[in-house]
Amino acid sequence: MENRTLRVFKTTTYREKPNSDELAFGRTFTDHMFVMDYSESEGWHDAKIVPYEPLKVDPAAMVFHYGQSVFEGLKAYLSPKGEPLLFRPRKNIARLNQSNERLCIPPIDEGFLLHALKQLIHIEKDWIPSSEGTSLYVRPVIISTEPFLGVAPSKQYKLVVILSPVGAYYKEGINPIKIAVENEYVRAVRGGTGEAKTGGNYAASLKAQEIAAKDGYSQVLWLDGIEKKYIEEVGSMNVFFKIGDEVVTPQLNGSILNGVTRSSVIEMLEHWGVMVNERKLTIEELYYEYQNGNVQEAFGSGTAAVISPIGQLDWNEHQMVFNGGKTGTLAKKLYDTLTGIQYGQIDDPFNWVEKV
Ligand code: COI
Repeated sequence: MENRTLRVFKTTTYREKPNSDELAFGRTFTDHMFVMDYSESEGWHDAKIVPYEPLKVDPAAMVFHYGQSVFEGLKAYLSPKGEPLLFRPRKNIARLNQSNERLCIPPIDEGFLLHALKQLIHIEKDWIPSSEGTSLYVRPVIISTEPFLGVAPSKQYKLVVILSPVGAYYKEGINPIKIAVENEYVRAVRGGTGEAKTGGNYAASLKAQEIAAKDGYSQVLWLDGIEKKYIEEVGSMNVFFKIGDEVVTPQLNGSILNGVTRSSVIEMLEHWGVMVNERKLTIEELYYEYQNGNVQEAFGSGTAAVISPIGQLDWNEHQMVFNGGKTGTLAKKLYDTLTGIQYGQIDDPFNWVEKV
């Protein structure tokens, strides 16, 4: 029996807000958080907004041992009128349930979670930063909390939503980043959990990321886990290449994350009459097209990354420099239009933005 009441317990000690011009990504958290528990007998219950504080979780909780957890990432923006806006929150909440399904976590009521998110953001409205390129990152996470060491789906869970005022995800800001194609490690395999937003995918990516960072790369570009031929994603973003007069992005195949920004980019491009091709793309083909002067631009898309131009992509000894290492026209137009819509500064023909 699920209980859909949302109780609010306000803090008495307010934290100092960071300077909105100096925001990094994901280091500062607001005064309150949303929590809700799941048990077999009560379903999802005890929904409440409480002061931000560490969780008390049993060391035998299954999440610590077998990683049964999922998360989401979306953002709240401040409109020119000072109203908080959310960008396509229903898509993120629906994807949370898709990840839940893959990880054997009981589904949440999507309408109720949206209501809770809006309440939390409303309470934390003054935490939404106003400097250009900043926003309030919304991070829902579900962990399995049953104290049990057997490998099975947990019978207890906790959903937490925390908020973090953020600036750019990459230190380069919106300037082009340098990426290396990963040849040794793989992020996900077909039939695995690549399409789900689960911590294990990110844990699996750390080793390659660490090695690449030592060589001066911001991220690695993952190839498919079977043939190590097909371009998949970057881990923190989906990727797009302007090849000739079409934009190519790897087609969803179960091991690539179905990004909300990815689908927004596709819809915007199609709206502008740009040809988009979601298909398999090998790294060899990309290099071949590059050598023939046909790859004009490369960029990534993601909630945290927004639109991030890729200035350089290194594949073994081959170096691909796109658009002279500068932000391309298309990436710039996508960035400006997407953020214009997100911040409520321009018309939203797609009805993507929702008031809180
Ligand atoms: C996001 O873009 O919101 C993500 O969850 C990616 C994460 C690596 C920050």
